[in-house]
Amino acid sequence: MPVDLVSFDAADPHDEEQLVAWVEVWSRSLLHDLGPEQGSPWSVAEIRAQSMSPNYRRETVLAVDRASGEPVGLGGISLPLRDNTHLVTLRLQVDPAHRRQGIGSQILEWAHGRWRDSGRPTILCETAWNVGNDDGSGEFARLNGYAAAQTTVRSDQLLAETVPSIRAGLPAIVEQIGAAGYDTLTWVDGSPEEWFEQRAFLARRMSTDIPLGELDMAEEDWDAERIREEDRLTRESGRRFVDTVVRHRDSGQLAGYTRIAVSAETPHLAYQLDTLVIREHRGIRLGRALKAVNVVRLADELPGVQRVRTWNAEENSHMIAVNSELGYEPTGYLREWQRRGG
Ligand SMILES: CC(C)(COP(=O)(O)OP(=O)(O)OC[C@H]1O[C@@H](n2cnc3c(N)ncnc32)[C@H](O)[C@@H]1OP(=O)(O)O)[C@@H](O)C(=O)NCCC(=O)NCCS
Repeated sequence: MPVDLVSFDAADPHDEEQLVAWVEVWSRSLLHDLGPEQGSPWSVAEIRAQSMSPNYRRETVLAVDRASGEPVGLGGISLPLRDNTHLVTLRLQVDPAHRRQGIGSQILEWAHGRWRDSGRPTILCETAWNVGNDDGSGEFARLNGYAAAQTTVRSDQLLAETVPSIRAGLPAIVEQIGAAGYDTLTWVDGSPEEWFEQRAFLARRMSTDIPLGELDMAEEDWDAERIREEDRLTRESGRRFVDTVVRHRDSGQLAGYTRIAVSAETPHLAYQLDTLVIREHRGIRLGRALKAVNVVRLADELPGVQRVRTWNAEENSHMIAVNSELGYEPTGYLREWQRRGG
């Protein structure tokens, strides 16, 4: 099917109509591939907030059927500007009713053209599927020169079933890390300014101290100002977020952190995002403590949340063991694909 690729600026309110159509195609695609429970796209406000970040250059196109004018696919590329300047990341979705008609290939041709123009050596894209139901999108990536670089397991934690026992176990967890010389601090919708420097240090470490599979990724460049700006954009997109950090009492240093975020559009669903315990402080169950403290606070603060969703690298056995202890159950997979040399 011949399509026109309509470029627009997701950060520009004048282009709202295209952005809404772009998110609608994405929603239909996820609904089809993952179902109503597991398909959870970013909202219009979230995509706009991401596009306003000065740390990435983003370009978006909507694929429109030349005959009917109907939106049938989407493309988006993101170029990190502040670190990882060797990378381009790609988002590509085709409306399920219009697949296998060459639309994905046309969007990919646009993306690869932009990739070549950027002069960057590496491009990444992702595919996702539910346990027992792989739709074959990986084959499209493979045929187009991409190699699987990392597979992550997606799992959900149902709060009604898990929080009561986590809450009951919390005093023992807090006592155990207290005896080892640590305590926790929790903040809703952002930390006080005095913690920005240390949070930036943790964010830098988060980019390298986690399993990266074959992914060609380098340390991210975070400072206090970037923490301030990203927190502000997240709040403006309507997201709520709960952060817990663990502090080494003697040195005052933060040894780890975790974040859960809730999109305004789906207040019943939360995302367990980054969790990190820096290498020097591993092996004393701080990861479990961080997650347990944070999810109990989430349940108190945002009682509408019913489930928390997370993604973990298949090889990240420690984190997966902690999650399983906290009642997470696997529901599917996400795979990062990588191609080098435009
Ligand atoms: C992957 C995706 C973008 C392909 O879009 P599409 O418009 O159907 O792709 P095309 O019609 O251009 O396909 C070109 C070729 O790729 C291969 N291909 C595409 N989808 C495939 C599938 N599900 N299984 C096996 N091969 C597939 C085929 O060889 C196809 O040619 P053919 O139809 O003549 O056999 C679409 O299935 C999709 O949106 N999937 C969910 C999102 C996703 O995974 N995006 C990331 C992709 S890197």
